[in-house]
Amino acid sequence: MAFLYEQLEQQLREQIESGQLAYGSRLPSVREVCTEQGLSKSTVLNAYARLEAAGLIRARAKSGYFVCQESHEPAVTRPSQPDMEPAYISADSLLLDIMQQSAAFDIRPDFTPTQYSEPLRRCLARAARSQRGEEQHYYDEPAGLLGLRQQLVRRCAEGGSHVDAEDIIVTGGCQHSLLLALMAVTRPGDTVAVESPGFYGVLQLIEALGLKAVEVPSSPATGISPDALEMAIRHWQIKAAVLMPSFATPTGACMPEQHKKKILSLAREQDVVLIEDDIYGDLAFGLQRPRTLYSYAQEMAAADQMILCSSFSKSLSRDLRIGWIVPGRFHARITKLKLVTQLACSRTTQTALQMFFEEGSFDRYLRQKRQQLSDQCRQLQQLIRDFFPQALSCSQPKGGLALWLELPETIDTVALYNLARKEAISLTPGRLFTSQQRYNNCLRLSFAQPWNEDRVAALKRVAELVNNSS
Ligand SMILES: Cc1ncc(COP(=O)(O)O)c(C=O)c1O
Repeated sequence: MAFLYEQLEQQLREQIESGQLAYGSRLPSVREVCTEQGLSKSTVLNAYARLEAAGLIRARAKSGYFVCQESHEPAVTRPSQPDMEPAYISADSLLLDIMQQSAAFDIRPDFTPTQYSEPLRRCLARAARSQRGEEQHYYDEPAGLLGLRQQLVRRCAEGGSHVDAEDIIVTGGCQHSLLLALMAVTRPGDTVAVESPGFYGVLQLIEALGLKAVEVPSSPATGISPDALEMAIRHWQIKAAVLMPSFATPTGACMPEQHKKKILSLAREQDVVLIEDDIYGDLAFGLQRPRTLYSYAQEMAAADQMILCSSFSKSLSRDLRIGWIVPGRFHARITKLKLVTQLACSRTTQTALQMFFEEGSFDRYLRQKRQQLSDQCRQLQQLIRDFFPQALSCSQPKGGLALWLELPETIDTVALYNLARKEAISLTPGRLFTSQQRYNNCLRLSFAQPWNEDRVAALKRVAELVNNSS
């Protein structure tokens, strides 16, 4: 558990980063915070000093503390403006080409051996050695290994949700969880609201399940617009909305607390199921991750409107193919659908993960990873300033694995992708994140990998290609 001053720092940091405390606005006085939150003066001063050191706030003599912009950051992009009309979609086939290069998150894929979590490798080996033969003859139980689910209870608690092991079903990854959630809630022809730009995997699922999508305007800083979502929900019969409240891909947006509450009230009033994709939630740069939408739903007695999905693909390893789902009132249906779509998960991999958590290795690993991602993100932002002076805007994620770069309107990032591909440089063009032929001048750039010489050179080369084509 973080110290009180760290908790306050994180709370204020989230308010600043989400725009709730806008640039130039005055922070509550130290005395006000002491009274409102029951904290000591030194706790509040400590938190304010840390925010000042991070360049987020500044003290003005006799006036208090004010939010100041982080220095030299490129402007944040405007909210998107997709056509808000339910439509059957055809997700982009470009994804297949990118996935064939295993390269959605690496500008210069590098298959030489890299840093790997040693404790995880040891647990995988130990789990394999501990097999007694029954794994080969019997499927795992439908909900997944109880010991692992007990560990997942703790992971959920980190995001503020209180669930029991019986509330969780282990899946074959977050994409599988999202599939199960959509299958449980919708029938072909139903309409699902999604963020725009949003995760291509969800667009692919919507297409495969014969559903219609409504793309909802979203801000690169604060995610889906609650007002636009409300309009969509009041206009059309929307069965579900798939949301990424914490570090959404491709922008890294984070939903502010009051947006979460508004969307939950709306979902309850209009009986819309909210499917939360929390795959990036653990990857906060700060000390504490944002609370899940699910945790607010529990507080507001709206958990019946929610399904929570996540996995270890981004925080630990893509290769585990282990995720989970908290299906709420759809538990029975989703248990059955898991059997239909997967039968069972690997018992050996689940055992390895259980061991890894029981050893306490994950928290240590995650602390390092968060710091590393934060550094890599900062390096990428600097490289963008150096190489892409013509960029119109760039999102400023505070967690996750990627940011959203908006280039001049004349740049076609799919053409750029094709040119770069010939030089073994991998890009994720903006068009992947919509079904509407939009965001053609945008790129999702990942900071998941260290900025070694090769990757820096690749990014520089992309900038040259941009210059040549503008
Ligand atoms: C937002 C989001 N959700 C889900 C997934 C799929 O995750 P998994 O590998 O656990 O199936 C991804 C992978 O890119 C993602 O970015």
